[in-house]
Amino acid sequence: MKCNLFLVFILLALTACKQTSSNPNNKDMDRFVDQLMSQMTLEEKIGQMNQLAIGFDITGPILNEGVEEKIKAGSVGSVLGIYTPEATRKLQELAVKESRLGIPILFGYDVIHGHRTIFPLNLGLAASWDLDLIERTARIAADEASADGLHWTFSPMVDIARDPRWGRVSEGAGEDPYLGSLITRAYIKGYEQNDLSQNNTILSCIKHFALYGAAEAGRDYNTVDMSRIRMYNEYLPPYKAGADAGAATFMTSFNEIDGVPATGNHWLLTELLRDEWGYQGFVVTDYGAIREMISHGVGDEREVAELSFKAGVDMEMVSELFYQYGPELVKSGKISEKVINKACRRVLEAKYKLGLFDDPYRYCNEEEKAKRYFTAENLAVAKEAAIKSMVLLKNDNELLPLDSTKKIAFIGPQVKRKRDLIGSWSAAGDYNQAVSLWEALDSKFGANRFLYAEGCNLLEDTLLIRKLNGFGSKIERSEKSSQYLIQEALNIARRADVVVAVVGEAFSMTGEAASRSDIQLPENQRELLKALAQTGKPVVLVLMNGRPLVLQWENDHLNAILETWFGGTMTGPAIADVLFGDAVPSGKITMTYPRNLGQIPIYYNYKNTGRPIHEEQKYTSKYLDVPNTPLYPFGYGLSYTTFEYSDLTLETGHAPSVQEISINIKNTGKYTATETVQLYLRDKVASITRPVKELKAFQQIELQPGEEKTLTFEISENDLKFYNSDLEYRAEPGEFDVFIGGNSCDTKQATFTY
Ligand code: BGC
Repeated sequence: MKCNLFLVFILLALTACKQTSSNPNNKDMDRFVDQLMSQMTLEEKIGQMNQLAIGFDITGPILNEGVEEKIKAGSVGSVLGIYTPEATRKLQELAVKESRLGIPILFGYDVIHGHRTIFPLNLGLAASWDLDLIERTARIAADEASADGLHWTFSPMVDIARDPRWGRVSEGAGEDPYLGSLITRAYIKGYEQNDLSQNNTILSCIKHFALYGAAEAGRDYNTVDMSRIRMYNEYLPPYKAGADAGAATFMTSFNEIDGVPATGNHWLLTELLRDEWGYQGFVVTDYGAIREMISHGVGDEREVAELSFKAGVDMEMVSELFYQYGPELVKSGKISEKVINKACRRVLEAKYKLGLFDDPYRYCNEEEKAKRYFTAENLAVAKEAAIKSMVLLKNDNELLPLDSTKKIAFIGPQVKRKRDLIGSWSAAGDYNQAVSLWEALDSKFGANRFLYAEGCNLLEDTLLIRKLNGFGSKIERSEKSSQYLIQEALNIARRADVVVAVVGEAFSMTGEAASRSDIQLPENQRELLKALAQTGKPVVLVLMNGRPLVLQWENDHLNAILETWFGGTMTGPAIADVLFGDAVPSGKITMTYPRNLGQIPIYYNYKNTGRPIHEEQKYTSKYLDVPNTPLYPFGYGLSYTTFEYSDLTLETGHAPSVQEISINIKNTGKYTATETVQLYLRDKVASITRPVKELKAFQQIELQPGEEKTLTFEISENDLKFYNSDLEYRAEPGEFDVFIGGNSCDTKQATFTY
């Protein structure tokens, strides 16, 4: 019986897919899903809404038991945490050959900044402002992941983040809704290629819906409370961009919104996402998030399951409460079967679009993987991405690039370490394949040309080390005392012309559940830096970290600072190229760097108060002990060359543009380099208060020394729109200031009227 049904089903599937492969047509899909669902029991439909974790413990404890039995029973729609064609094929066979209807499983995984080839952290990638590059990294990630048996990535993370204490800032694009929206689209395009029927594209997932980045005090999973005006204008745009771009899936967030956890929030998941935005894909919860609503205090197991069903969740990640209580909730009339039908349909549609009914094993091709991961081309893009992500924060007296004929001492725990290079959320990445800075120096010049000292341990704090090692770090403390390590480093530094100090966070100090209340460099590293500075030798600070740090002391006392994030597989060669001038840094930070912790949250697109800062007047909005300005503003990043901006001119645009704005840029330095030219607007008077400036456009331009070009921006009515107090998206007439520059602070300014 099972066999017969299976054959009928396969025939049906083949016919449907044949028809759609040349002409993807929703009617065929609808017919196919209708026929399939007409054979499904209520339990099997709820089974499609059930996602279980198996394999690797990367996001929390593995909660699910009896996964294989449940697959055979048709109670599992998706599995997360497993990859490789061999492993996924084994489970797929259980689903296809041994469950009653043979519905294939969807394999999901956290492919966040690369799969096997690891690119820089997402915050680093964002600093490239290079949308084409970001799309290419996602394309490669999809190619490698799909060759590894995966159908679905839980990426991009698009949460706007203004608080660097939050460890997950490393996974996103930073603080700006406009740039964040463009980057969201680039990832989706890279993963999905507008064509899920290819066997090297995967479903993307917009997460974490919504407002997860606004957790109070930067503490992960914490309460969020926000006005609708702020939500619509500042936090929701990247999610909406994801919905508009047709991202295949959305993931709920762990936080609450208006007092209701996102995972049970009907307003969020149905009224906003479905009714207002018209989103068609399916919604998965975050890991165990339905069960977590019990701790939020909104019900017991049955009640939270009911809340999530009603809110509009289509698939539950790991907590199995749908599976447990779904049938009974329908039979008792608490939820309508229509709710289940809608959700099950959406999940089946995703499987159909991927072609899994046509060939459930099309992503389990063992021969493909060797051809598709870790190719020379992928590594070249990884190196390009690492270079373009780097941000030069300071470079006094053109200390960088370094002259390789000088005596250079590389000092610090991150010169040779590999463990941290691929950063957090590099789940299938292998840090042993990453190239360290020392290895890169060795192959570029021969390492014996340089001096080296470890300088200090990565961390001294034993409690923190124990915690981090428990989460996968490999932090060891040297037998030598920190005084001894510093002495050793000083002896080396004194023999050098220039010191390059390579320090930073451990990879596990950023990412999920990695909030920090103090975001300076670890104390023992700061002691090393102080000692090095006292030698009087010029010091270049090379940073590896996953969030903006407080770097006031370093900025005041060291000569050059290069932010390299965790650069991924090709970190070492990329840093070596930048340090020695074979590549010119062009990254610009997409999160503000504060002067001290007390300034947080600090971001460039803030609102004016009724008492704007005035240093000489007491009752104005300021601190007594620190300026209002950040250490490094949004959009900031130096180059080895310099750019001069001039001749900002305005012209009335031809429809649909309302204003044409031109600016002249000249490369006034010695290096061919790329500049990211940024345009900000300020709506001077409006029906609600508006930010002091908002990014509205940018262009990247490469100029040779002495070369000069004029760039033109066209501003349309759309660029002037915002959500007013009735949440209508309108442009209001009046005056607008326009600012253009190489960062959000140093700009040329003009005014136009709309
Ligand atoms: C994280 C998600 C992730 C999920 C699955 C959760 O803990 O918040 O971002 O996609 O686990 O691994």
